[in-house]
Amino acid sequence: MKKIIKNGTIVTATDTYQADVLIEDEKVKAIGQDLSDVYAEVIDATGLYVFPGGIDPHTHMEMPFGGTVTKDDYESGTIAAAHGGTTTIIDFCLTEKGKTLKNALEIWHAKSEGRAVIDYGFHLQIVEANEQILQEIPAVIEEEGVTSFKVFMAYKNVLQADDETLFQTLVTAKDHGGLVMVHAENGDVIEHLTQEALKAGNTDPIYHALTRPPELEGEATGRAAKLTALADSQLYVVHVTCKEAVEQIAEARSKGFSVYGETCPQYLVLDQTYLEKPDFEGAKYVWSPPLRDKSNQEVLWNALKSGELQTIGSDHCAFDFDGQKDLGKGDFTKIPNGGPFVEDRFSILFSEGVKKGRISINQFVDMVSTQTAKLFGLFPQKGTIAPGTDADIVLFDPNAERTISANTHHSAVDYSALEGMKVTGQPVTVLSRGEYVIKDKELVAKPGAGKFLKRAKFNSSQTNQQEVTPNRS
Ligand code: URP
Ligand code: ZN
Ligand code: ZN
Repeated sequence: MKKIIKNGTIVTATDTYQADVLIEDEKVKAIGQDLSDVYAEVIDATGLYVFPGGIDPHTHMEMPFGGTVTKDDYESGTIAAAHGGTTTIIDFCLTEKGKTLKNALEIWHAKSEGRAVIDYGFHLQIVEANEQILQEIPAVIEEEGVTSFKVFMAYKNVLQADDETLFQTLVTAKDHGGLVMVHAENGDVIEHLTQEALKAGNTDPIYHALTRPPELEGEATGRAAKLTALADSQLYVVHVTCKEAVEQIAEARSKGFSVYGETCPQYLVLDQTYLEKPDFEGAKYVWSPPLRDKSNQEVLWNALKSGELQTIGSDHCAFDFDGQKDLGKGDFTKIPNGGPFVEDRFSILFSEGVKKGRISINQFVDMVSTQTAKLFGLFPQKGTIAPGTDADIVLFDPNAERTISANTHHSAVDYSALEGMKVTGQPVTVLSRGEYVIKDKELVAKPGAGKFLKRAKFNSSQTNQQEVTPNRS
């Protein structure tokens, strides 16, 4: 059904203005003053911001990891995302040595098909770059619409790939329009420090952070950036946490290399002391890279504001405290790595960023939506509000106050790493391709409403491109 959003304030990465939005056949049909259509449902957005739907470039739904499987599947995970103002996720599809990329995609399609309430795409992990895999990469880009490839430089003996694999992936991606993503930590040295800690009897959650110091993130980030320069390719560094890594990205960018960076809400608001919580509660805050010294928070905010980092991912990788995190009682290496953030990514950035004056409201939209769309081949279909774009829209109350809690969140996981945190601003109504997913804070979409997105190739000119102001009729 046609809809007209009236009386709201439209905010894109470049503009803030009052206008009506007419939605028809999944798309934004027109933007203008006093729009009317007798067949359209009118949605009153008085006092609300009209944002493009959030795009989360980093989730792990129903993913086997750390001897267990992440708690949120495509249904509960996308419902949580939608409540938080996210209308698209790009999820990590893991691969297995000796198997094809298409095999991994089939597995991920099987778990997501008919389950998601919002649209989704996949990144593909590259764990080994043999001839067959390197030949398959162009095919998955062209035929499957999977245009980004993740290489883990850490998790030795589990997910980690070697530098040759990273380099070959960079070269192949460059030739065929892919974007290479890295988890940048030096996995070999982490493994050494971990074994030393265990030998010394240091088994508590805090040793997870102490065996993965920021120098090892900086080293791996710099190495990946230099290999990218050598391959004349393009790189996206996921979950950047610290000064050491930000400096490497800034240096590469200052030399003109196509290196981009993402950080996550958890690194902006939590710090390493959380891993010291008593009674094994520190395990709730075990993920990789680990939480850092608090001084890094300002570094990350500044990097977001200056554009050295472009995007915010949630790295949503949810494990229950009871029954999953507790696999690591008495041995921190057995705590499944990951935390639940898909629902709070948008609100944390608005509350801690915009409301506290750290970033502008247009920068907020840029980092939670537009830049991800541009980097990952979804723009301008998604990531902005303009005639012809998908009508993925969040009506957001900037003054609503709420306290984050596992008692009220929509993820299936049994705790919140942000329990008790007060935030200002809340999504009220969320539309995906013009249909309600959330209406007045209640879920209305059915599983399967969300569709798999075939994404376009990486296009560096798009990442530098200024958004065109929509034609305001
Ligand atoms: O600890 C984390 N971040 N778990 C998810 C996998 C990854 O490294 O992104
Ligand atoms: Zn990672
Ligand atoms: Zn991750």
